[in-house]
Order: sequence, then structure tokens, then C-alpha cells
Amino acid sequence: MIAELLKGDCSDLLGKKVNVKGWVRTRRGNKNIAFIALNDGSIIHNIQIVVDVATFNNDDLLKRITTGACISVNGLLVESAGKGQAYEIQADDIIIYGEADPEKYPLQKKGHSLEFLREIAHLRPRTNTFGAVLRIRHALSFAIHKYFNDNGFYYLHTPIITGSDCEGAGAMFRVTTLDLDNIPRKKDGSVDFSKDFFGKETNLTVSGQLEAELGAMSLSNVYTFGPTFRAENSNTARHLSEFWMIEPEMAFFEINDNMDLAEDFLKYLVSYILEKCIDDLEFLQKMYDKKLLERLNFVVENQFERLTYTKAIEILEMSGEKFEFPVSWGVDLQSEHERYLVEKHFHKPVILTDYPKDIKAFYMKLNDDDKTVRALDVLFPKIGEIIGGSQREEDYNKLSKRIEEMSIDPNDVWWYLETRKFGTAPHSGFGLGFERLMLFITGMGNIRDVIPFPRAPMNAEF
Ligand code: 4AD
Ligand code: MG
Repeated sequence: MIAELLKGDCSDLLGKKVNVKGWVRTRRGNKNIAFIALNDGSIIHNIQIVVDVATFNNDDLLKRITTGACISVNGLLVESAGKGQAYEIQADDIIIYGEADPEKYPLQKKGHSLEFLREIAHLRPRTNTFGAVLRIRHALSFAIHKYFNDNGFYYLHTPIITGSDCEGAGAMFRVTTLDLDNIPRKKDGSVDFSKDFFGKETNLTVSGQLEAELGAMSLSNVYTFGPTFRAENSNTARHLSEFWMIEPEMAFFEINDNMDLAEDFLKYLVSYILEKCIDDLEFLQKMYDKKLLERLNFVVENQFERLTYTKAIEILEMSGEKFEFPVSWGVDLQSEHERYLVEKHFHKPVILTDYPKDIKAFYMKLNDDDKTVRALDVLFPKIGEIIGGSQREEDYNKLSKRIEEMSIDPNDVWWYLETRKFGTAPHSGFGLGFERLMLFITGMGNIRDVIPFPRAPMNAEF
């Protein structure tokens, strides 16, 4: 791997034969000497291959080594005389695995727009930008598991196909094997789902939370980390139809413990990437976001601001700002409001709590005022909402009442209600949108550029 040669000290290999394989980024030179920049994705940097044209004596092969071609190189690792790299390889022999016709290969040297790269998502991982994003994505996933493992959480695999709607938003993708040209119907004309694969209506999950709660009521501290699906028609730079969510769920945690965990977790993840992926971050800072490292360090070093929804509405009303969506107590906050609080008022991440019950999901614990619930949303600069969570309603009667008020069919969640019947306990949890965090950490502007193959309305290619 090229990373092994370019990262750290490889002086023991100096003067020895090495082999590298990868994709050609550029080939330049003259009739005496050729320089090939080779990249295998293991690290952002290319290794320089130097070919002495006369000794190599294979002009025909050299000509076929163009941008995008895949090659294997045997040669001597030497200290580089040129600027920009410590080592280079003097090629003895080269095998071409696959050519890339310069007339047709879309990723020629010149910079491409991110919009264009989205159309060639099958090839964009070969660019510096997507190499950096995908390496960070990997490191972040690893750090998430590490954090929870080190802190006594168990990874619970919650189902992807479900018969319940956790968020109650109704924006779900149906899972069915019914013949769409010949749908079985009941006498009243409605679809007869008893004839469907599972004998009932099923959808792709919008959240693993309800099942994570079952885990917390037995293993104490659990988390899920998996894909979630939302069929809302939101064509924005912050929404995907398929995104990954991390959902810890903790028995005996109240809302303040939940906030402490959310803050500690986010700070850990950002510091982990600052430590492990600095080359990639520096590249992204240079290309896309001059303030990236400053912003990441700021989040690690500063305490998040904590306040209630009600207090936030007061601040927004007093702001004198002209918002597209006017604010008053009871409205759901839009991203323009969230960003005002974070970027213009507090200048730091904000945790809002105690939202009106009417704009939040059925499972949140009701406060004594009977109007607000123990919700929490973490708001980040440039992103807005990055985490949504709450303390859960553990009282069977109160929860049943909310389910009825919100017209949820108790038959869909009978098993969830039983945890409140048998050995109920205070508990809390939250959901962190993985791609929202990726947006923040990479400084990219569009959520479709932080997931390898984005799924969005009218878009399921690759
Ligand atoms: O606020 P949400 O809808 O909360 C839940 O689903 C809870 N069940 C979580 C829990 O308490 N266990 O979603 C959680 C987070 C949001 O804060 C956001 O970061 C992300 O998921 N998210 C999306 N990310 C990308 N595209 C979308 N369409 C998203 N919808 C939510
Ligand atoms: Mg939310």
C-alpha cells in the first residue's frame, strides 16, 4: 500500500525493491524521463514513479500509461531529489492492468465540479476529494464503535423492515411483494395486506429507536448504527432518502445525562478525526472551507450552550431578523432559525430542550406543565440540527394517552407498551445523523457528497 511508504518512516525499505499498484493520476516528462503520479486510495498523497525512458526501453507501454490507467510497478525505493515528496520509485518494470482511453475517461486532470462528479459516482472515489471523504467516513464509523465499546455500550442490530412508524411522520417507503398490477383488496376496497409477504403492512425503518429502547430495558446501555429511510420529498443539501443514524439508548438516564453524553460523544468524534485524518482534513480545508480546522477545534474546546425551546423563541422574536418562516411559540424551528441561534447569537453549538409536545413524537416524556416534552436537539454551525433525542415517557398511562391522542394504532406498538408495563424505568436516547456529522467534519456543502452513493428524490443511480 502506498500509505505504508508515504506515512511515517520507511527508511528500512530505502534502496530496496518494492511493488506498488494503483491508478495513474498524471504522467508527465520528456523524451528522456517520465514521471507518473500513482494513487491507490490508501492515502491522499501520490507516490512518484520515475522512468528512465532509455533504460526502460518500452515506448509503446509508456504511451499507454495515461490518467486513469491501473498499473503495477516494481522498482527501487529511493529518496526523492524533487520537491514535494520524500521518496520515489525508480521503475524497473511496469504491468498495465487496465488502460483508460484519454478520449473517454471522464476524470482527466482538470478540476471537476461536484455536480458533475455526482453524475459519475462510480468513478468519483478516485478523486482526491472523495478519497478524503471516504477515508474520513471510515474513520468516523470506527470511532463511533470505539467510543461506545470503550464506554460500556452494546451494539444492538435493530430491524430494517418494520411494521411501526417511530417518528409518526408517515414518510415511509413501503416494503411489499404484492403484484402491483393485481392488488388483492378487501370487501371495502382497501388493500388486503394479509396477502402480503409478512401478512401485514411493512416499511423500511425511519429509526431504530423503538427497538433500541427494548435493548436499553435489558442491557442498560445500547446503540444502533444503521441505515434509515425517509420518503419525504426534501430536495435540500441536508436531506437524504437513505441515511445512516447512530442511536444510543440508555436506561436510568434523564435529560441532563442525555445532553452530557451527546456533547461528550460529538467532541470525541471530532477530536478523533482531527487526530487520525489530518492530511485529508487539510486537503478539504484548502479546497472547500478555509475555516474548517478552526471550526472543528472550536467545537472540541467549547461548552455547548443549553437552553429551552421557549427561551430560544424569545431570542428569535427579539432578534429583529427577517426570517422566511416567522417564529412564535409552538412553531417547529426551521434551519434558518437554528442557524441564527448558533451562528449569530451564541457563536457555538446549542442544545435546545423542552419543545412543545405537539411538534414532537409520541414517545417523549411529558413535562409537568403538560405542554412541553423532554426533547433535545443539538444544533451545529453550518448544519442546524445534527442530533434529535429525548428522555422517553416511561409511564404506561401517559404513554397510552399520547398514542391515542396522536391516532397511533396501539396494535402496531403493543410490544413497546409492554416495556412500560413490566419493569419500566426512566431512560433516554438520541439519534445522530451520520451524514450531517460528515458534512460538519468535512466542510462539504452538500450531503450528497459525503455518502458514496446518495439516494434522494428521483435519484437512485448506481
Ligand atoms: O430528529 P430525528 O427524526 O430523530 C429520530 O429519528 C429519533 N428516533 C432519534 C432518537 O431519539 N433515537 O432524526 C435524528 C437525526 C437528525 O437530527 C438528523 O441529524 C438526522 O437524523 N436526519 C437526517 N439526515 C439526513 N437526511 C434526512 N432526511 C434526515 N432526517 C433526519
Ligand atoms: Mg429531529
